[in-house]
Amino acid sequence: MSYLPAPDRYETMPYRTVGHSGLKLPVISLGLWHNFGDDRPLDQQRAIIRRAFDRGVTHFDLANNYGPPYGSAETNFGRILKADLKNHRDELIISSKAGWDMWPGPYGFGGSRKYLVSSLDQSLERMGVDYVDIFYHHRPDPDTPLEETLYALRDIVASGKALYVGISSYGPELTAEAAEFMADEGCPLLIHQPSYSIVNRWVEEPGEDGDSLLETCADTGLGVIAFSPLAQGLLTDRYLDGIPEDSRVAAHKSFDEDMLSDKNLDMVRRLNDIAQERGQTLAQMALAWILRPQGDYGEETVTSALVGASSVEQLDQNLDTINNLEFSDAELKAIDDVAFDAGINIWAQATASKIREDDED
Ligand SMILES: NC(=O)c1ccc[n+]([C@@H]2O[C@H](COP(=O)([O-])OP(=O)(O)OC[C@H]3O[C@@H](n4cnc5c(N)ncnc54)[C@H](OP(=O)(O)O)[C@@H]3O)[C@@H](O)[C@H]2O)c1
Repeated sequence: MSYLPAPDRYETMPYRTVGHSGLKLPVISLGLWHNFGDDRPLDQQRAIIRRAFDRGVTHFDLANNYGPPYGSAETNFGRILKADLKNHRDELIISSKAGWDMWPGPYGFGGSRKYLVSSLDQSLERMGVDYVDIFYHHRPDPDTPLEETLYALRDIVASGKALYVGISSYGPELTAEAAEFMADEGCPLLIHQPSYSIVNRWVEEPGEDGDSLLETCADTGLGVIAFSPLAQGLLTDRYLDGIPEDSRVAAHKSFDEDMLSDKNLDMVRRLNDIAQERGQTLAQMALAWILRPQGDYGEETVTSALVGASSVEQLDQNLDTINNLEFSDAELKAIDDVAFDAGINIWAQATASKIREDDED
């Protein structure tokens, strides 16, 4: 069946400017980390992507190793793009990344020019596109000089294979250094992609120089797209009555059952009560919270919340967040009184692996 996108798809979704750039992103973007590999029916993937586009989600986030198996999310996305969205390429922001484990041997991991350039070529081939809109270095690499990675990103933009470049899971000092370097090169970093949620607030904590990652990004003109804003599903009603068979925890993927401790689930129940008082689901409150105005930087502190969804129903619920993005001071305080760090930041080691270039041995 041929697909015609909803004509009113741009009428409700708010779009925010990414840092100091001219690019805008929807406040909710869709990630294809899980749920788009060969372990999921293509029709289900296709329904989620069509629905997202119909509701104004212009941004789809991928990486070389999303699957399983590695690469299959890009291949599947490429199929859906070709079947349904090929006439809409200029309405889409497609991102990919390299940095984590991808192929065997010394050139399939890290931040070398060798890895980044060849990985992007492979990603383009799998997706059947000439360029990605955003290409990220997926994690800091302590074994590669920062400037090698950044020169590679600059040259990738010059080659036309990515329109913009960004970084993911870099700490505040390394981010400041990278942003300054790239600005001097005339190829400013566009965006940072960190993990961030009500129960994982490392981006708000001051780094070695006293600035948090959010402050650093705002000061250096980088947008922020927050990944795992639902803490992989913890900040939803998914686990309130046990572990569903079709859930990420049951699949023994990246979300370990240990994260569903009694203490964490008790907190989730209390957050769920606050959300219900707001007339929202917990997932919606968690997404609205990510997008709340913060301090001097206001509404655009976080450009977009990057969610995952394993069904159209989940996606729809998450997109309905835009119906209530406002918080009273009392609601924010109630959330802070209940919330604590749930110990779910599985990317913290990668961030800590490289603080800043000068500090390395
Ligand atoms: N840069 C990086 O290093 C990095 C790392 C991780 C993720 N990311 C990006 O961020 C994206 C999002 O990450 P994530 O999938 O962990 O995000 P998330 O939104 O925190 O979690 C998504 C999961 O939560 C559950 N869920 C979503 N909406 C729900 C709802 N309304 N009700 C109940 N359950 C709901 C689903 O779990 P079930 O599958 O159990 O249904 C879904 O798969 C990824 O796809 C990727 O693009 C980037």
